Amino acid sequence: MSKKKNTVWICQSCGAKAFKWAGYCSSCGEWNTIVEEVIRSEDSPRGISAPAGTDVRPVAVGHVSFTEAPRFSSGSAELDRVLGGGIVPGSFVLVGGDPGIGKSTLLTQLAGRVAESKGPVLYVSAEESPQQVRIRAERLGAVADSFMLVSEADMELIDEYMKALQPEVLIVDSIQTVYKPDIPSAPGSVVQVRECAAQLLRMAKNSKTAVFIVGHVTKEGAIAGPRILEHMVDTVLYFDGERHTQYRIIQAVKNRFGALEIGVYEMGDNGLKDVPNASELFLSERPIGASGSVIVPVIEGTRPILVEVQALVSSTSYQNARRTTNGIDVNRLQLLIAVLEKRVGLPMGGNDAFVKATGGVKIDEPAVDLGLAVALASSYCDCPVDPYTVIIGEVGLAGEVRAVTQLEQRIKEAAKMGFKKAIVPASACKNNIDPGFTLVGVGTLIEALHAAGIGGRKKQH
Ligand SMILES: Nc1ncnc2c1ncn2[C@@H]1O[C@H](COP(=O)(O)OP(=O)(O)OP(=O)(O)O)[C@@H](O)[C@H]1O
Ligand SMILES: [Mg+2]
Repeated sequence: MSKKKNTVWICQSCGAKAFKWAGYCSSCGEWNTIVEEVIRSEDSPRGISAPAGTDVRPVAVGHVSFTEAPRFSSGSAELDRVLGGGIVPGSFVLVGGDPGIGKSTLLTQLAGRVAESKGPVLYVSAEESPQQVRIRAERLGAVADSFMLVSEADMELIDEYMKALQPEVLIVDSIQTVYKPDIPSAPGSVVQVRECAAQLLRMAKNSKTAVFIVGHVTKEGAIAGPRILEHMVDTVLYFDGERHTQYRIIQAVKNRFGALEIGVYEMGDNGLKDVPNASELFLSERPIGASGSVIVPVIEGTRPILVEVQALVSSTSYQNARRTTNGIDVNRLQLLIAVLEKRVGLPMGGNDAFVKATGGVKIDEPAVDLGLAVALASSYCDCPVDPYTVIIGEVGLAGEVRAVTQLEQRIKEAAKMGFKKAIVPASACKNNIDPGFTLVGVGTLIEALHAAGIGGRKKQH
């Protein structure tokens, strides 16, 4: 059957069509996102289509027949939680992460464990030879009879293997290396990635096989390929961590089956080991009695975790003071420095300020504001905060301290980890849940600094 070919220009960010190539998309305002795309007159379907011969008329939602297939375990409690309570049959999951962070390790372990406990798993390794995968599987103790392996990049053949084997889980490592032979673009191109993902989506939904795909990330940290990939899948997991430490964090940034949780792992020779008590890990190396260190209970998904926030404020040797952050948004740092200067009277605007959330976590909730502001003031005044106090609250531009969500859960986690006192927003400080724990309610940032024992003037040496 001959297929009429045609080309259009399309923005890979917003999907708008253009008449010709341009460096700038007039619909979404993004640069360098317009790419040429080959279309066929009988274009392949993009979303889910009903199998041939089935009734496709609209029906009332309450009359849709379904048999709910129960979730099953991936063999790792951390990954199960991140997936929203185990693997959902027929789900489509994208795992992204930096090179060498451990994506193949995670999925090889998953393959071995699911093959042992549930049924066949097909691992499509389009990047590595079967020997390489076998060596890794041996090292991780993931060799199992129904862990099936194929080194193939052609989507037509992958579809055939899938139909023949009907696995519980299909793993494609990676989406950038597989290709559809009827599309002329190279593997990894926007069109190939999108069309391969669309085919895998249909395979997942029609067969009830859970499909995991590996996606590489660009230098900016986004998953390479079209943004549309993230919309197509049910779940997007980012695998992160500082490569020179053994800790790895897997974070759900999208999940149609549960809250956005994080999972913590320790990487070793035998692979990834679950770290069930993340707070203990993040606090294990904290410097007791050092200025600029504050413990903040943050909520990741549904789980409270204690994270150390560190700040270092020092006099600058440059014309413009430097602001560097790790795990915290730089705009949050700028804003808090401005509030400390204007509302508290700490003249730190001309100083360099460096802050980091330890352990490689990324904190983007406002509840970290007060802890971060106190850490900055603590470093500036060289005055340490009591190591058994946690600090929780959002800071407004007027220097007021605002309430945060799930305060009780945060305090319970702090009490569980042996902390004795919490500085919290006064508006939320109604009932103390633990008699051995002191809650200090504060209405402003100045009150919080007093409660933490930090003066308003820089220590003179
Ligand atoms: N004995 C070992 N042999 C090989 N890798 C090990 C060993 N012990 C720990 N590792 C870790 O495993 C990592 C490799 O993991 P893996 O191949 O799963 O990464 P990846 O994210 O799939 O990488 P890529 O993007 O290259 O496919 C190494 O960076 C290293 O940190
Ligand atoms: Mg890999």
